[in-house]
Amino acid sequence: MLTRVTLAATAALLLVGIGGTAMAQDSIKARKDGFQTSKNAMAEIKDLLGSDKVAQVGPAAQRMSAFAAQIPTLFPAGSDKGDTKAKADIWANNADFTAKAQAYEAAAKGLEAAAASGDKAATAKQFAAVGGACKACHERYRAD
Ligand code: HEC
Repeated sequence: MLTRVTLAATAALLLVGIGGTAMAQDSIKARKDGFQTSKNAMAEIKDLLGSDKVAQVGPAAQRMSAFAAQIPTLFPAGSDKGDTKAKADIWANNADFTAKAQAYEAAAKGLEAAAASGDKAATAKQFAAVGGACKACHERYRAD
């Protein structure tokens, strides 16, 4: 009887474990997609600034801030395993990692606001700040 209960409990734990792994893999895919969207938005904004279309920068900046807000939820425990370049430091220094995600979100929102003002120099400056936010996080938390 006791053995049967133990077996059932073990099976349940195993299922939870498998479910957790599947969730971790989904998170890895979702964050990679989001980072690719960020990369594409950066390229789009660079082109827009190059052709003086400052007012059109807003939607791409908004896509970035929307994704940035989700970053902390896309690195659940266990998602350091699999096809990922996320460094273990993310979980060891989670408050700092979250702060870096928030810095990215704030910079992207600042870019949207600068674009809305129509001021090209301010928009270019804020675009550089967003690039700096990507770099600050990658340097510490993404493997090469
Ligand atoms: C808070 C930290 C953080 C910020 C901010 C950040 N990244 Fe990343 N980025 C990561 C991590 C960690 C990975 C590795 C994800 C993985 O492999 O699971 C990554 C991966 C990527 C990838 C590769 C995705 C793939 O398909 O493997 C690209 C491209 C990328 N980031 C672009 C950007 C750009 C552009 C920005 C800024 C506009 C940015 N990132 C901001 C942490 C960050």
